[in-house]
Amino acid sequence: MNVSWYPGHMTKAKRMMAEDIKIIDLVIELLDARIPVSSRNPDIDELAKGKSRLVILNKSDLADPASNEQWVRYFSEKGLVTVLIDSKNRKGFSAISRSIDEACKAKLERDKKRGIIGRPVRAMVVGIPNVGKSTFINSLCKRASTKTGNKPGVTKGKQWIKLNKSVELLDTPGILWPKFENETIGQNLAFIGSINDEILDEVELSLNLIDVIRKLLPGALTKRFGTGEEGSSHDILGDIAVKRGSIKAGGEADYDKAARMVLTDFRAGLLGNITLEIP
Ligand code: G4P
Repeated sequence: MNVSWYPGHMTKAKRMMAEDIKIIDLVIELLDARIPVSSRNPDIDELAKGKSRLVILNKSDLADPASNEQWVRYFSEKGLVTVLIDSKNRKGFSAISRSIDEACKAKLERDKKRGIIGRPVRAMVVGIPNVGKSTFINSLCKRASTKTGNKPGVTKGKQWIKLNKSVELLDTPGILWPKFENETIGQNLAFIGSINDEILDEVELSLNLIDVIRKLLPGALTKRFGTGEEGSSHDILGDIAVKRGSIKAGGEADYDKAARMVLTDFRAGLLGNITLEIP
């Protein structure tokens, strides 16, 4: 399956992101814990050059717990402070404040040496579409005290959320563009729903997903749909249609409907906790 997609609004997003990042000290990069590599924009290292960095593995509730730990270790070994989060259920947030301090430690020490004391760290959340940026910011907002409002001059028109006495967060996230560097990455992004399904062949996508799931989490398809897991993925999809009563007027299995069911259930975590990429 060949996915390549670069909507026009990404060009604008890229420009805005480059503009906003100039006034930022700390870049909080949100990744999808199920596909930490595929959901990462490889240009981020260049974009965030010279900034403090924090990596957040969001949607950790949908990923495999052992893989979550492996990914935290992986990014930590690369020198990036990394936190596991479930923004939807607001889990993992107690570690954020401490992690921000840790990520900004070197910067704060540099500031101190230059006699700059008490200037708040300005942070910004970035990530590809659908990774959970808005949900994450909303969850943080609920914990944070106040919005600081517009600050004339430097940050005109921007809203800042005061997270604690030393950190302010820009309330609008930076949108990064996904990178379809190879077919696997494009497919992973499609699996988790980061690409508009209208431009995809859902049946083909679900057949590939069935192959991936039965390899990574044997028994998951049987448990969810009551089907076998042997034979071709096409046969399994047909079986899912039959088991779920998705039958067309002429009596044949409705593959389109079954495909949508497989994709929706996977994305909602109903097939179990699955991480599609391992470090
Ligand atoms: P974005 O700003 O990066 O584009 O993403 P957004 O926050 O809009 O989140 C995209 C979808 O991901 C939303 O689901 C949101 O609820 C879900 N989500 C965000 N964080 C998490 C998480 O940690 N765990 C889980 N399980 N889901 C998460 P939606 O179906 O589009 O909306 P809704 O019906 O949940 O409101």
